[in-house]
Amino acid sequence: MSLAKRRGFIYPDSEIYGGMSGFWDFGPLGVELKNNIKKEWWRFFVSEREDMFGLESSIIMNPKVWEASGHAATFNDPMVECKKCNYRERIDLLIIRAHPGEALVLPIDPELQKKFLGKCPNCGEQDWDNPKQFNLMFKTFVGSVEDSASTAYLRPETAQGMFVNFKNIVDSFHPKLPFGLAQIGKAFRNEITPGNFIFRLREFEQMEIEYFISATDKWEKWFENWLEKMCQWLNFLGFKKENIFEREVSEKDRAHYSKRTVDIDYDFPFGQEELCGLAYRGDFDLKAHGLDYQDNEEVGPPQGGYAEEVRPPRGGRTSIIIPHVIEPTFGVERIVLALLCENYDEDTMNGEKRIVLRINPKLAPVKAAVFPLLANKPELVKKAREVFEMLKKEIPQTNWDDIGNIGKRYRRQDEIGTPFCLTIDFDTLKDETLTIRARDTGQQERVAVSKVIDYIKERL
Ligand code: GAP
Repeated sequence: MSLAKRRGFIYPDSEIYGGMSGFWDFGPLGVELKNNIKKEWWRFFVSEREDMFGLESSIIMNPKVWEASGHAATFNDPMVECKKCNYRERIDLLIIRAHPGEALVLPIDPELQKKFLGKCPNCGEQDWDNPKQFNLMFKTFVGSVEDSASTAYLRPETAQGMFVNFKNIVDSFHPKLPFGLAQIGKAFRNEITPGNFIFRLREFEQMEIEYFISATDKWEKWFENWLEKMCQWLNFLGFKKENIFEREVSEKDRAHYSKRTVDIDYDFPFGQEELCGLAYRGDFDLKAHGLDYQDNEEVGPPQGGYAEEVRPPRGGRTSIIIPHVIEPTFGVERIVLALLCENYDEDTMNGEKRIVLRINPKLAPVKAAVFPLLANKPELVKKAREVFEMLKKEIPQTNWDDIGNIGKRYRRQDEIGTPFCLTIDFDTLKDETLTIRARDTGQQERVAVSKVIDYIKERL
């Protein structure tokens, strides 16, 4: 957390006013890292595939969407409030804290429930009010009148924007099943207990896919296929297999729409917690919104050894069906947090301790840093500026650094994960070569200025 703040990845939201619980701001390096993650997600799951359609739907939607989706009625967390100090907490968290490692079946009666809750973590008393269902959707008003008719919600998931656009996509592109919609965007949840840095937020970004399959297709096959794809992507980002766990979510813990959920957990420093998830939503959503799909199934091909010119025409059958949905979903900030945890390292290089972020070079917020060996030698600075400007055009995530000595510059770049540092020295002026130093090994190579862009691009 301290590195993230000090080096401009993540700042507390509205910090000069004391911050705001559950909200964080992304600084210059954080925003580059987030953009790189989103770009790689889009490339892997959308651009490189033929069966995916991208979308960007609105955060505020007609409130009827949330009635139909079930969120207005069931997107709740049960919560209690301490009568002494007004501290609020989710019931499940209190129970886990009061009875670690025990499997408890909670009685329905609120008075009996309260006995299981333990003491208030804030004031130490055990005087809880009756548990209440707390809806996690943020409310707002649209237009100038603030009444129930103008009440709207900030979306708690990006998914619904894709379901309500299902018909539009089908009408514009006539895709055949199976196909998917994908979207990256903000989601908001009024979490009762945000925390663990950027793990549980009230404002966050999701990267979601709704993959539509025929009801007669084997959903189990597609579920396994998507689980594998999700793991492949996490692997590509650089997560070690031993830090990633697939966890079957039990029926009682599944969201109201899900028939099967597998969460992919990450071994965070505060415990094994959900990084991303995969749900089989069946036909719940399309049915809820009254949507269907005209399936033009080709019947045939005719059997037997017809010559091409006498082959009878293929038949066709049109039926109206409700496709089923497989939903891979990722939280951008959880990926950011897990990547910072996964790649943060402290080691010793050339007898000196250093912090190094061993992040996949493709995701690094700065790909290359350009240094003039000495900042007070105009001829070196001039040459280094030339190299910097040449690089910046081709590799925009290139930085300039001329503060302190070379050792200090390396340390600064190592802790933000810059894979390559380029030093322009007096030899550069004579022979048009410069030194490239690699983050992980500290190894240095002399490379011709004219080859530098290719050298870096090949290694990204
Ligand atoms: N459309 C399905 C859906 O929203 P979810 O498991 O509730 O499923 C999907 O959320 C992902 O969004 C999670 O795996 C997690 O990465 C991220 N996420 C959910 N709630 C979050 C929160 N309060 N703060 C940060 N990320 C969150």
